[in-house]
Amino acid sequence: MPSALLNVMINAAKKASIKIRRDFNELENLQVSTKGPGDFVTSADIRTQKIIIDELTKAKPDWSFLAEEKTNQKTDEYKNRFIIDPIDGTTNFMHGNPNFAISIAAEVDNKLEAGIVYCPIFDELFFAERGKGAFLNDRRLRVAKRNKLSDSVVVTGIPHIGRGNKEQFIEEIDQIISEVAGIRRSGSAALDLAWVAAGRYDAYWEYGLSLWDIAAGIIIIREAGGVVTGLDGSEDDLYTGNVIAGNDNIHESLLKKIKNIYLQDS
Ligand code: IPD
Ligand code: CA
Ligand code: CA
Repeated sequence: MPSALLNVMINAAKKASIKIRRDFNELENLQVSTKGPGDFVTSADIRTQKIIIDELTKAKPDWSFLAEEKTNQKTDEYKNRFIIDPIDGTTNFMHGNPNFAISIAAEVDNKLEAGIVYCPIFDELFFAERGKGAFLNDRRLRVAKRNKLSDSVVVTGIPHIGRGNKEQFIEEIDQIISEVAGIRRSGSAALDLAWVAAGRYDAYWEYGLSLWDIAAGIIIIREAGGVVTGLDGSEDDLYTGNVIAGNDNIHESLLKKIKNIYLQDS
């Protein structure tokens, strides 16, 4: 049974999704602006965030917010806060690609307490609360059990115009490609993490993310029995936005592989 806190988060996401689905069917009417090269924001991102923050504020008026589209947020001193990405996968959304999600995490006393990643088009709700397991709709989630990289499908984020270190990425891909069963790029970090929790991918790594991309996915993976760390292997490094996730074995093998690439280089 989801707690009252989780229900508030789920209801906010579901309410916002009614408009997202409408926008998704009328993409030609969408207003789009850029925050930087290859970094888009649509009228749907702004509207979705407003609906979510309004709903959450009704239930938790004293909570703070960290949200991607920074509008009227309370970001001062806080005890508890919500971390929100209204649409993770905006580029997919704008292109009519249904692989995008709302991501909301709740932090209580600086600790991740709950997270939801909701894909409105497929009506898939991934959620977790600390100590209570992870779920997809009504089904309990466990990370995949594979223990060899050569059997694994891994997902990553590819740098693009204005973003990331292209040379470093090409070097990593060059070495990882011949070790794994497949590499994927979905375009939504939040869903990548949720799909690792569901065992649909065996591992995930990406650099340069923001807390709103990953906070909900982190607690979902951990509650599904998986491991998420920064790319130095420590939990603190997550806050640099460099992330690697998987089951115990695959997380360790992939992390070792990536670290070796840089040892060879130095
Ligand atoms: C992006 C997605 C994408 C990741 C980017 C993120 P946005 O979020 O999560 O998969 O590769 O780094 O910025 O901009 O669509 O919210
Ligand atoms: Ca995002
Ligand atoms: Ca976003």
